Amino acid sequence: MADASGNNFEAEPLKGGEAEGGVSKEKSCTEKLGCSHLTSWRTAAFLLSLFLCLAVVFAFSFILPCPVRPQYESTWNCTLPDAATYDFLAVEDANEDKVLDVFFIYKDSKASRNTCLSEDLSIPCLVLTAVDGTNGKKLWERPLAAEFDWVECGVKGLGRQDTGCLVAHADNLTAVDKKTGVIRWQQSRSTVMNGNLPLISLSDLNADKTEDFAIISYNPEAASLTPVPSEVVFFSGKSGDQIGLNVLADWKRVFGHQQFKTSSGAPYLLLLTKSGLYAVSLQRLAVLADLKTELKEEKSWEEKSDKSTGLISLYPSDSLKRVMVYPGSGSPSLLIQTDSSISLLHTDKLKIAWTTNTSSLLSAPTFGHFNKDGILDIMIEEDIGNKTKRVLVLSGSSGAILWEVNLLFWTPSPRPASVLTLNTYSVFMLWGQSHENQTNEMQSSFLLHPRYSQLMLERRNPARNIISFKATLLERGRHACYLVLTGPDGRQHAELGETDPVMLTKRKIKDDVSESGVMGVAVDESSSKELKEAFYRLRFSDALF
Ligand SMILES: *[C@@H]1O[C@H](CO)[C@@H](O)[C@H](O)[C@H]1NC(C)=O
Ligand SMILES: *[C@@H]1O[C@H](CO)[C@@H](O)[C@H](O)[C@H]1NC(C)=O
Ligand SMILES: *[C@@H]1O[C@H](CO)[C@@H](O)[C@H](O)[C@H]1NC(C)=O
Ligand SMILES: *[C@@H]1O[C@H](CO)[C@@H](O)[C@H](O)[C@H]1NC(C)=O
Ligand SMILES: *[C@@H]1O[C@H](CO)[C@@H](O)[C@H](O)[C@H]1NC(C)=O
Repeated sequence: MADASGNNFEAEPLKGGEAEGGVSKEKSCTEKLGCSHLTSWRTAAFLLSLFLCLAVVFAFSFILPCPVRPQYESTWNCTLPDAATYDFLAVEDANEDKVLDVFFIYKDSKASRNTCLSEDLSIPCLVLTAVDGTNGKKLWERPLAAEFDWVECGVKGLGRQDTGCLVAHADNLTAVDKKTGVIRWQQSRSTVMNGNLPLISLSDLNADKTEDFAIISYNPEAASLTPVPSEVVFFSGKSGDQIGLNVLADWKRVFGHQQFKTSSGAPYLLLLTKSGLYAVSLQRLAVLADLKTELKEEKSWEEKSDKSTGLISLYPSDSLKRVMVYPGSGSPSLLIQTDSSISLLHTDKLKIAWTTNTSSLLSAPTFGHFNKDGILDIMIEEDIGNKTKRVLVLSGSSGAILWEVNLLFWTPSPRPASVLTLNTYSVFMLWGQSHENQTNEMQSSFLLHPRYSQLMLERRNPARNIISFKATLLERGRHACYLVLTGPDGRQHAELGETDPVMLTKRKIKDDVSESGVMGVAVDESSSKELKEAFYRLRFSDALF
């Protein structure tokens, strides 16, 4: 044995050299005076610093609390029998736990719940409610007088420091604090003639350091019989009091509006009319209301404006349907939908970038990244008859068709949704039914991964009346989920009672993967496995686009 080790030692000259060097170092050390003292001091210092390190580690791990990451249930539901609901879902942090909470509104017909009676309201009443995003538990409820008109949450200037919800119902406008559900103010909306249309939010107009808002009214149906002028009325966000004068406008056949900010930050009101798309600057409206404000105006647009009305013609068309702000980088664009086409309008030069012919669309277009060019693409759903829809993805840069699939559908057919991932593409979620199984009792949700676009994941759900649907992240960079609000539609005055309850369900998107089948041409076991693994690997991004 000794021989063998000796041989080994010889066979490794490097090791030998090291050992010799070590010995020589030791020698030189012991030759110096006080060297052993130095060693013990060094040991003491080492032990002391080790002790300090450990003390710090222990302090941080046991004494000082770590920031607690909120725990959440991957699936929850909130169920309300004897109720009806409306197409509205908002996500905001109401209880300041860094997880977004969910706001919805329902019509309560159940006396035993005591929600309406607690506020001396007759039954049925409306209830605006916030439920905890982590577990679906109720955070607050705000009973309000029926009937419901519209609601907007995230309105700046309404909360104490933050945003709030504005509800138009019965004869009133009611501002509700998003954290407590307390009514901040309540004002009659009889000052607006047909005060039945949503608001536009604005910067501070009356110098009280809170954002203000305006309500626009127009009446497309009555326009042909007795012409009703359109009207814009400004309100203080702080108190709900009207500020300035009513602006009566001679706009012809308006049926929709949209708020828009140009690339230079000038706020405009876009008007959808039976003869095309027009814009009018908010500065002009504020001046007409006798408000002293200095809102920006876009010079190149104003040069084109009609001197008497201030209207700027952006896109003449007799079949305009919908306009959406296209949230691209750089200068903002508008996606313009008519009866038979979709176009992208660049707003700086007012040039049409592309136009694609379509049949009539079932829902508003959805934005998401499908291809790799970094330009937002567009998912649309065409009604091609025979209860069939063609779902298309159009390239945002050219309008070319990048992807398509045919699915069966029932009305209401929820609009598709998309969630951005950290890999700069989005995953898309849509509803329908694949052709193989045509029983009416099932409704499928599909997940589309742009890098595996020959396939889709299909999860079969019992068919319910989906009133509202949203896919979103409830926390920064994580917790990608979708929300489905089902139940009787509050806008259709149906008898309540024997009907389904109102139900809000949250599901984590990744939880659907294991419960889904794979749909597509030439599906085999390995491609299915690969697709599911690609979904499990996804990391989501909280950037919107
Ligand atoms: C709703 O949640 C409860 C538990 O919280 C669960 O028992 C029930 O199955 C859920 N309902 C649906 C339809 O998911
Ligand atoms: C409207 O608001 C006023 C003022 O707060 C209130 O007195 C009235 O009861 C409200 N009406 C309804 C129908 O909510
Ligand atoms: C789109 O529709 C217009 C008018 O119907 C037609 O002239 C044009 O050729 C169509 N374009 C394509 C690419 O089909
Ligand atoms: C409608 O669908 C049915 C069943 O899928 C099919 O037999 C029929 O030919 C379709 N009709 C049209 C007009 O496409
Ligand atoms: C159709 O749906 C029913 C009910 O979910 C299911 O049992 C059946 O296997 C499905 N058929 C096909 C061909 O997918």
